[in-house]
Amino acid sequence: LGSKPTYPNVKGWKFTEKELTRLLSNRTHSEDLVLFKTAASATEREFGNETYFRGIAEFSNKCEKDCNYCGIRKSHPIVQRFDMSDKEVVDAAKWVAEYGYGCLLLQSGERTVKKENERVSRLIRAIKKETTSKTYPKGIGIILSVGEQKPEVYKEWFDLGAHRYLLRIETTNRDLYHKIHPSFNHSFETRVQCLKSLRDIGYQVGSGVMIGIPGQSLLDLARDLLWYRQMDLDMIGMGPYIHSQHTPMCEEFEKDYWQVQNNVTDKDDWDWRDSDFAQYRDMENWKRYRLTLRMLALTRLMCFDCNIAATTALQAIDPFGRERALEIAANVVMPIVTPKKYRKNYVLYDGKPCVEEGKEECRGCLQARVLSVGKRVVYDQWNDPPHFLRK
Ligand code: 5AD
Repeated sequence: LGSKPTYPNVKGWKFTEKELTRLLSNRTHSEDLVLFKTAASATEREFGNETYFRGIAEFSNKCEKDCNYCGIRKSHPIVQRFDMSDKEVVDAAKWVAEYGYGCLLLQSGERTVKKENERVSRLIRAIKKETTSKTYPKGIGIILSVGEQKPEVYKEWFDLGAHRYLLRIETTNRDLYHKIHPSFNHSFETRVQCLKSLRDIGYQVGSGVMIGIPGQSLLDLARDLLWYRQMDLDMIGMGPYIHSQHTPMCEEFEKDYWQVQNNVTDKDDWDWRDSDFAQYRDMENWKRYRLTLRMLALTRLMCFDCNIAATTALQAIDPFGRERALEIAANVVMPIVTPKKYRKNYVLYDGKPCVEEGKEECRGCLQARVLSVGKRVVYDQWNDPPHFLRK
């Protein structure tokens, strides 16, 4: 990317909706480069060349929700359901501690029944107990990503020692949100309320959106960015929307959706011939990919001291997608530590990488990716976002 920023190097850029929409619709490679370089220098100013690892254990794919886009939705016709055993989860946590990742992210489908909530409590207790050491006086950091729950439940987990929570808003356009989620058990307001109660309880809160959802407009994405600031998020994880076979959005919705005006992917007439992106045959995904890089860059400029993840979905579109994200804006990578035998059943979108690998391979692979862009991994620490520490 080069090193010299072209915009002034200020902290916490304030953009208007209009400016953001304009920047999201960059028309040329050089316009994008200016944006990316500026964001890269903001990332460097805040984090130097440091990158943080969080091990992710996808401990169950059983889910009560039926999101129209998701590969583990409740009524998915093919996916085989699994639950990692408690021992497998705790072993993964011990491995994470041993290799110095610092934090474990426990992610699963959403289940609100008491038995499952108690299981999460049990896991938190066991992980804290088993990983407390000289290096980790309070055990490894525990991040939860298990959906919408009651405030009491969030509170119980927090009191047991979980200190971060990820819950994506997916889109801040209420109508679009309700279009991509079945109405009987989804409400935009509930999602926002959950994020607020997580914040009130004291969690470091992470959220984010999918980019290039059919029917999403650039204005929607601009508003997503403003919402990140408004919600005062500590972490942001976002990625391109990617079709997932056997889901309504992939199968039925697609044709109608492509006719929606204002679709972000329609707007993009960027000149691709002189770029290294020309290799892509799937133009829609390629457009989403570039839009995601712009969103990452703008997020870094606006939320300069938040942790931003280089998500796996980027790598599903471009083999070097995560490297690009790290170069521009991301300072967090999440190596998967789920045992290999379960991975093929935790595929939220088509072409998810890392499914054929084990945790050792993911470790080596991601270390190499981080090094390849001149960055390094900080081991043996929780690595909380500076944004939270400054509060
Ligand atoms: N494409 C991209 N991201 C997806 N997710 C779920 N399904 C898809 C898909 N088809 C993302 C959602 C969810 C996270 C766990 O995975 O944003 O919050």
